[in-house]
Amino acid sequence: MALLELDDIEFAYGNGLVALRNVSLRAEPGEFVCIVGPSGCGKSTLLDLIDGLAKISHGQISIGGKPVFGPGPDRAVVFQAASLLPWRTVAGNISFALEATKREELRRETNEQRRDRVARLVALVGLNGFEGYFPGALSGGMRQRVNLARALSVEPDILLMDEPFANLDAQTRDLMQVELLRVWNESRRTVIFVTHSIQEAVFLGDRVLVMSGRPGTVVRDIKIDIPRPRIADKRRGPEYTAYEEDIGREIAGHVKLVSESPSQ
Ligand SMILES: Nc1ncnc2c1ncn2[C@@H]1O[C@H](COP(=O)(O)OP(=O)(O)OP(=O)(O)O)[C@@H](O)[C@H]1O
Ligand SMILES: [Mg+2]
Repeated sequence: MALLELDDIEFAYGNGLVALRNVSLRAEPGEFVCIVGPSGCGKSTLLDLIDGLAKISHGQISIGGKPVFGPGPDRAVVFQAASLLPWRTVAGNISFALEATKREELRRETNEQRRDRVARLVALVGLNGFEGYFPGALSGGMRQRVNLARALSVEPDILLMDEPFANLDAQTRDLMQVELLRVWNESRRTVIFVTHSIQEAVFLGDRVLVMSGRPGTVVRDIKIDIPRPRIADKRRGPEYTAYEEDIGREIAGHVKLVSESPSQ
């Protein structure tokens, strides 16, 4: 059974704008699914819906066979902006998520258990030695590592990532992609990863979903048949570029639709 299942969903904003229509998708436990598509096609809206932040007007979203009616501890989100608490250290930001989670068993942990958990997460995202730093003293890549650790801390089944590396410089971004795959390989969450970078999507994903212009729908579901672990040095090679060109052509065919009139 799929862990996450969207069945023919439709969503319109309060002003009547239909952002998504006929969206169906499935993600298996531990699967890494990337979503690309023209700007404004509803990718962020789709993540919000999976997160349970808004009500769909048609169709159903279910996780583990149970319909989604609102946010829950089985999902965590990583956005483009790290939005860390500036007055809390790296360790403090991660433990904040543990203090606030709806997962009782995590909230009830002793101080010592929590310290251990935070230390494991800090190590997992490669921030050993920076536990006591405040966000203002971290680089953009380091902040996103904290962000990732914070999201993983509450042991979500599904990690929703909305262009998490869009604000990083090219080298840091390349590095963070490799790091994310390493972390994912160790934690094996289901990841739904939205990006504007086709190259990023192909390098990371088990599958890449391509969305059309608004109202957004999934027009292609492409399995990336490149073995793991994916080797960073090979990511500019022909097996990747073949997929990238295919996806690029598909998106280009849909970009025009978005720039047309805002009416539905
Ligand atoms: N709060 C809102 N109220 C009304 N319309 C909205 C709202 N948020 C987004 N929209 C519209 O819904 C559509 C989808 O927006 P969304 O942010 O999901 O697109 P996106 O694919 O994430 O775009 P981008 O790639 O630029 O991040 C857009 O046409 C946008 O104008
Ligand atoms: Mg978006």
